[in-house]
Amino acid sequence: MHSFMNDYSEGAHPRILDLLNKYNLEKNGGYGLDDHSDIAKKYIKRELGRDDVDIHFIAAGTLTNVLTISAFLKPYQAVISADSGHINVHETGAVETSGHKVISVPTIDGKLRPDHIIKVLNYHQDEHMVQPKMVYISNTTELGTVYTKEELKAISKCSRENNLILFMDGARLGSALTCKSNDLSLEDIAGLVDVFYIGGTKNGALLGEALVLIRDDLKEDFRYLIKNRGALMAKGFVLGIQFEALFQDSLYFDLAEHANIMACDLTKIISDKDYKFFIKPYSNQLFPIFPNAILEKMKDEFVFSIHEKIDEDNTAIRLVTSWATKEESVDAFRSFLERY
Ligand SMILES: Cc1ncc(COP(=O)(O)O)c(C=O)c1O
Repeated sequence: MHSFMNDYSEGAHPRILDLLNKYNLEKNGGYGLDDHSDIAKKYIKRELGRDDVDIHFIAAGTLTNVLTISAFLKPYQAVISADSGHINVHETGAVETSGHKVISVPTIDGKLRPDHIIKVLNYHQDEHMVQPKMVYISNTTELGTVYTKEELKAISKCSRENNLILFMDGARLGSALTCKSNDLSLEDIAGLVDVFYIGGTKNGALLGEALVLIRDDLKEDFRYLIKNRGALMAKGFVLGIQFEALFQDSLYFDLAEHANIMACDLTKIISDKDYKFFIKPYSNQLFPIFPNAILEKMKDEFVFSIHEKIDEDNTAIRLVTSWATKEESVDAFRSFLERY
């Protein structure tokens, strides 16, 4: 079986495991106060081209989302998200459990735009409704689309003009930054959003996300909050070492680029056979539409997920490539489609 199920099925890139092994018997400081976390932060700051940010390593994406959103909102404040946003549909109400409403907005491509935000603001006018205070975007989005610099600038301007905190969920930021259409750098992102994270879990790390706090007023007491939510790991150095490996050179970008190249190859194979996509492919998540009869056969050789039923005979599926996807899996997909 070849799996295109997701980008977190495999363990970790060997260079990360090597570094973990190298430092295995070293005595490290606890709770993220260790040399490796410091080195990793230094490397990430180098990529961001600035030193005036706070970085915290958190174990998982949902945890990072809940921590971040609940940290900066007052009890009556809410976060605006695309309806497809991870916090809205795939986190089991975790944000709402923290007391904050997610105001979801229908979008065609998973991307929020200023007019979506303005519409929400116009609707929420007084204290009888929650007060929108944060904008949540994900890059790549849950539909594999990516924000252009112009789009991010527009959202940033709108957020600043309306005194909203702009938060970018970067669980798949590696794939966004290395896809063909991308024109954003980490430096640009740090200049345009208030807080964002760089996902490791879906890009070659065993686990971990690097949360970057940019605005000074968001930085205060954040370690207290992490601990208060049970997310300050005694062995925080395990996260630090992984981000040290990912950012000491270009490994983070190389791994994401590999996933994107595999996705581009799959896209070509699928398009050459004249199959259509539910949404235009940009990154390592693809949503091709196939006849159900072919999908029945596909299930015997490939692991993938169903995205949406299109009509009685056709279904959109989700194929995800990863840092570890082998060319032979892509070749197997080519030969499968040649047979049907
Ligand atoms: C955009 C996005 N954000 C957050 C998460 C949550 O990550 P985790 O499963 O580590 O909690 C995911 C997971 O797929 C995701 O796709």
